[in-house]
Amino acid sequence: MIRPVRYEGGVVHLLDQRRLPAEERWQACRSVEEVARAIETMVVRGAPAIGIAAAFGVALAAAGAARGRGGGALEPGGTPGEGAGLEEVVETALRRLAATRPTAVNLHWALARMEGRYRQMRSAGAGPDQVAAALEAEARAIQEEDLAMCLRMAEHGAALLPEGAQVLTHCNTGALATGGHGTALGVIRTAWRQGRLRHVWVDETRPVLQGARLTAWELQKEGIPHTLIVDGAAAAVMAAGRVDAVLVGADRIAANGDTANKIGTRMLAVLARHHGIPFYVVAPWSTVDPSLPSGDGIPIEERNPEEVTGFGGVRWAPAGTPVFNPAFDVTPASLITAIVTDRGILRPPYIEAIAARARRDEPG
Ligand code: MRU
Repeated sequence: MIRPVRYEGGVVHLLDQRRLPAEERWQACRSVEEVARAIETMVVRGAPAIGIAAAFGVALAAAGAARGRGGGALEPGGTPGEGAGLEEVVETALRRLAATRPTAVNLHWALARMEGRYRQMRSAGAGPDQVAAALEAEARAIQEEDLAMCLRMAEHGAALLPEGAQVLTHCNTGALATGGHGTALGVIRTAWRQGRLRHVWVDETRPVLQGARLTAWELQKEGIPHTLIVDGAAAAVMAAGRVDAVLVGADRIAANGDTANKIGTRMLAVLARHHGIPFYVVAPWSTVDPSLPSGDGIPIEERNPEEVTGFGGVRWAPAGTPVFNPAFDVTPASLITAIVTDRGILRPPYIEAIAARARRDEPG
């Protein structure tokens, strides 16, 4: 199974997704700053995978502080003493990693979990070595739990598809974007293994081409029949009756079900409604942000204009062309047929479904 993040010997190894499919090269991150830069530059990307990489970044910082190296070069100014140095190193790591990409809430969810474990260990009087070991175990748990959630979502989601389904997907929501298997692509993978999937339409996903480069690579490795289309071809294949369902992932789901995902997702949802095609969002519970009443409050990342004016060192737009490059858009809950989570399938009205599901899982 493809797993995009590995942690070995105090080093975070990331499969460099900027280079795929041309090259399968791993990038070694030995400091928090290197992990943060890797997230910002999309060496690692996809909401759950970003959270996993950041969790290992915190573990790396604590391990460095425990060894007296100030969190893997984040704080080169000295050897942290008992407690205080560790505290500073962990807090600085949490802050730096939280500031990398704004839209995917999984990043903040994973960092909050790492912080919680840190505070728990400190208040139990644990020393730096014990804290570092606990944080490494927590990051590994986040990664393994994400894989387990993906496998559960895949079972729930595959059951929604008709026999011989033709589906359309956007961006990359596969093993590369998660702890393994994938969210929307995990459903596709499982449906294929169950023999109920016929074909996948893969949106190229301008401007970073996660569909053309990453989803096509994953599907090809698995031998799943697929066809790459430009984003603008989605309406034509839907109109031709060649799409039975649209499956996408999510970066943040508000309490009312409004969903942020890769730019172009909202356009697909509008098209699906027009053509009478079900539109499914597939995401783990760590993507739900009940603190936001609606999608209006979701921060949308704007990325470098150069992603739009060219690619791979080739510029095609005239120099100085003004660019607007939002990396995500928000699909209103009213256009979503169902949200497939590891905790089951949510149906409208989402405000009630999400609140009920959250209440059911509250401890006690
Ligand atoms: O900018 P990216 O590549 O990190 O965006 C990824 C997406 O929008 C995915 O659809 C989303 O994170 C879900 S991945 C399981």
